[in-house]
Amino acid sequence: MPTQRRILVTSALPYANGPLHLGHMLEQVQTDIWVRFQKSRGNSCLYVCADDAHGTAIMLAAQNENLTAEEYVNSIWRQHKQDSADFSIDFSVFHTTHSAENRKWSRRIYKRLKSNNDIISRKITQAYDPKEKLFLADRFIKGTCPKCKAEDQYGDNCEVCGATYNPADLINPISTISGETPIEKDSEHFFFRLKNYQTQLEKWIKSGTLQSQVANKLGEWIEMGLQDWDISRDAPYFGFEIPGTEDKFFYVWLDAPIGYIASFEHYCKQSELNFGEYWNEENQTELYHFIGKDIVNFHGLFWPAMLKSSGLRLPTGIFAHGFLTVNGAKMSKSRGTFIKASTYLKYLDSDYLRYYFAAKLNGSVDDIDLNLEDFIQRVNSDLVGKVVNIASRCSGFIEKTFENRLSKECGEETLIKDFICASENIAKLYEAREFNKAIRSVMDLADRANQYINDKKPWVLAKNTNELDEVHSICSVGINLFRILMIYLKPVLPKMSIEAETFLNCSLEWTNLENFLIDHDLNKFEPLMTRIDPKVVKMMIEESKVDDAPDRQSKESDNSIAIEDFSKIDIRIGEIVAAEQIENADKLLRLRINLGDLGERQILSAIRPHYSPEDLVGRLTLVIANLKPRKMRFGMSEGMLLMTGDESQLYLLSPDSGARAGMPVN
Ligand code: MSP
Ligand code: ZN
Repeated sequence: MPTQRRILVTSALPYANGPLHLGHMLEQVQTDIWVRFQKSRGNSCLYVCADDAHGTAIMLAAQNENLTAEEYVNSIWRQHKQDSADFSIDFSVFHTTHSAENRKWSRRIYKRLKSNNDIISRKITQAYDPKEKLFLADRFIKGTCPKCKAEDQYGDNCEVCGATYNPADLINPISTISGETPIEKDSEHFFFRLKNYQTQLEKWIKSGTLQSQVANKLGEWIEMGLQDWDISRDAPYFGFEIPGTEDKFFYVWLDAPIGYIASFEHYCKQSELNFGEYWNEENQTELYHFIGKDIVNFHGLFWPAMLKSSGLRLPTGIFAHGFLTVNGAKMSKSRGTFIKASTYLKYLDSDYLRYYFAAKLNGSVDDIDLNLEDFIQRVNSDLVGKVVNIASRCSGFIEKTFENRLSKECGEETLIKDFICASENIAKLYEAREFNKAIRSVMDLADRANQYINDKKPWVLAKNTNELDEVHSICSVGINLFRILMIYLKPVLPKMSIEAETFLNCSLEWTNLENFLIDHDLNKFEPLMTRIDPKVVKMMIEESKVDDAPDRQSKESDNSIAIEDFSKIDIRIGEIVAAEQIENADKLLRLRINLGDLGERQILSAIRPHYSPEDLVGRLTLVIANLKPRKMRFGMSEGMLLMTGDESQLYLLSPDSGARAGMPVN
């Protein structure tokens, strides 16, 4: 029995300024598969994540919605937690950086850095929005490129000619928040002296624990010379105040990685774990950060330097992945490929995407493409056509002819041995995050299992009563092969595994690989997974197009409309004459709305979590009557109810008494 490893794993903390999208899910799925794999091998593996709740963007997003920053990040936190859970992401804890533990650790680490003389202060001059009374980060300033004169370029670089510059160099700069011309203003900032850790960082980077592409990139940065890192921001800012200052806050990227420690401590409080065993310099545990390639500087330079300075352990490894593209291009709202996790889940099963990601992920930082046609094809042919097929072909005979009991011996020793022998190689591939190769091996085995059944033709033998023992044996072998495949796939397919466990009437454990099912009762076979209907994928893309919400962070575009635009919208008083639940739609109710002269309409509305149907019937409310009818998964929706509230609670609007169905609203 190998000794049990004790492992702590993190995914990057998503910003609490918008919903999770499939790019975030790529990272969480990659991490989750690795964590589930470790657990299946008998290791202890904890998975910590949290929302990254601080910073200017979040502060402004909250203001846009007329919420306090706390209210805003709380509501996002609930959505993020739900979306991850719906993708079967098995966090040990999902906390937030806006927490008491994180405040404590941020202060504590800052004090340690300070007492090591790693913090200096100096005055800097920055762009300032005189109207909003706010210092402006580069991305909140736009203007004309000083080099190629392209208009509407961000404060740090030009997307047209690629020039990089200071915001002060922009021609006609404006604040994207207020539209005012920024002025220059001085203020004192605190800096972390990264240079003090140059030698140690060089050593760490060369230690061979990082991916070579990442080590090279970090090496280049070090060679260019490590700059002091600005870790403070002036009020107003949503974050933690810096001790000993007034109106100065920790920059969000200071307290974000500290959030890993703080969330882990939060978890320790509710479990028996020893915090120090994971974070002290001397330890026997492993620590891995899964991150995207865009944030390797924070995790590969600033973070290890902060940990060193604070006398804490360094990560054992940093596992960077590439970016998700859809159909070969950056995710795009107008093409409908900027797909939110929650939109995906409305249409498709999470195991499908987990499988596809696994089939493409590897240990490098190369980008991963979600090609939607390939996605449909891969899932349908591999999972349904190969894996589930083995079980469905064999279970029929076992059920009909052998009372759902497997044979008393398991033949085909060589075939089964080959399946078992693949175990260590598949495990090695999972360990190295070469999931694509692991999946390839499993599918090769699935092909062999199907080939075996094709060759033996139990359906031919079954016609002959004295061959029944042989049929029993072939199908029992098939079921045992299926069981082994499902053990290998369990980290990838948590939902399907549960159903397979019910069918097989045993739990799928890698550590029990060789416990064959002999003389064993099965449960009734239910289809474990159904094919993806390409139409449903199309609908998801359509909804993602419709759902093209304007970027919350920017008030930059003029969003006023002319009266003519407004009068295009036909708002009417509608009477709800019927309301019913829709099977398999947790959020939707099917409503019939009487619009007076305009007749009756069917509207599907996402208010099931907020209202019960019987409370709705008879009520008057406001309806957009001339919205183009939309075909949804559960039928046509011919209009829209106007509502207020946020995702956590919605409220129907009602007219004062006297209003009648069909009356126009203007
Ligand atoms: N809040 C920071 C991380 C702080 S970690 C101490 C952040 N947040 S993020 O929401 O922008 O991104 C969270 C993670 O998702 C990052 O690892 C990022 O690389 C990853 N991804 C965001 N978009 C992505 C894709 N399109 N594709 C793959 N991963 C992507 O960065
Ligand atoms: Zn330019």
